[in-house]
Amino acid sequence: MSVFSIKNLKVAFPTPRGIVRAVEGIDLSIGAGECLALVGESGCGKSVTSLAALKLLDTSSCIVRTDEHLLLDEDISKMSEREMEGIRGRKASMIFQDALSALNPVMSVGKQLDEVFMLHFGLKRREAKARSIEALRSVGIEDPEARYKAFPHELSGGMRQRVLIAMAFASNPALIIADEPTTALDVTVQKQVLALLSKLQAENGTALLLISHDLSVVCSMADRIAVMYSGRIVECAETWELISNPLHPYTKGLMDAVVRLDEPKGRFTQIPGSLPDPVNKPKGCCFFPRCAHASNKCGEAMPRLENAGNAHFVRCCMSGGAYEG
Ligand SMILES: Nc1ncnc2c1ncn2[C@@H]1O[C@H](COP(=O)(O)OP(=O)(O)OP(=O)(O)O)[C@@H](O)[C@H]1O
Ligand SMILES: [Mg+2]
Repeated sequence: MSVFSIKNLKVAFPTPRGIVRAVEGIDLSIGAGECLALVGESGCGKSVTSLAALKLLDTSSCIVRTDEHLLLDEDISKMSEREMEGIRGRKASMIFQDALSALNPVMSVGKQLDEVFMLHFGLKRREAKARSIEALRSVGIEDPEARYKAFPHELSGGMRQRVLIAMAFASNPALIIADEPTTALDVTVQKQVLALLSKLQAENGTALLLISHDLSVVCSMADRIAVMYSGRIVECAETWELISNPLHPYTKGLMDAVVRLDEPKGRFTQIPGSLPDPVNKPKGCCFFPRCAHASNKCGEAMPRLENAGNAHFVRCCMSGGAYEG
């Protein structure tokens, strides 16, 4: 059963330059205990998707449309902001990249955790404190009694991220969305924090949407990977299937960038070019201007996201797919 499902998500921002089509018809579905990774270059629409998933976008500045938006079989598309406040932090939580700005700088991390337990479980401060110390211990923070009193700026980046993870898991939500949870950390700490996230997810059976611009970061954790490009999913498959048999030229480009990371400097291949301007997207396949395999038709018509077998979906006519409409 899917814990979270969204169908045909579209998000557009009217701007003085024109309409920014940030997300153009995305379907996502995540089951209990499953980790779905959403991967793609900066600006492809990952954060907008994650914010829309928990209805955190400011709807006075954008237009959001969905055909279906379910959390634990409840239709959240019509829920008011007040109802959503009851859902966020309880049934679904978010872990942001920048722990320093996600945490309150003038309150100790322990008190901030207490607030979560008091709000969601109606605990008194004393009971909440015991739970908070336990939560700090569960995310591998040494001497949690002392750390309980620390302010965010007194902790290292890795420890702050652990505090955010503790807060996200505090109410044992069904869904957690982690948007670049380790990007600000150095590689060793990044691995430790991801291992922690993975362990807690498995222990709690949480559905996890893991967002990253880096394919190598998500490969070890994700059950399935969705590759996003210019507001659309261009490929989606189980992790092993995707990395052993990438079908979209964009995914292949991301893989090349990963594979050569270990090689000497200068051998690192980046995909030439950049994402199209979201106000003036090409008529056909958005990857067409950067694609070495495209035919003329790819510049005219949008390829459909199609199942190439083994629940491996790809939006590319050069991989045997058809064009839309
Ligand atoms: N409030 C806004 N107003 C106008 N455009 C916006 C707004 N928020 C996001 N966008 C645009 O939507 C597109 C998708 O942005 P988004 O933040 O989702 O990218 P991302 O994939 O998360 O990138 P990154 O890896 O850098 O975090 C970008 O073109 C961005 O400029
Ligand atoms: Mg982002």
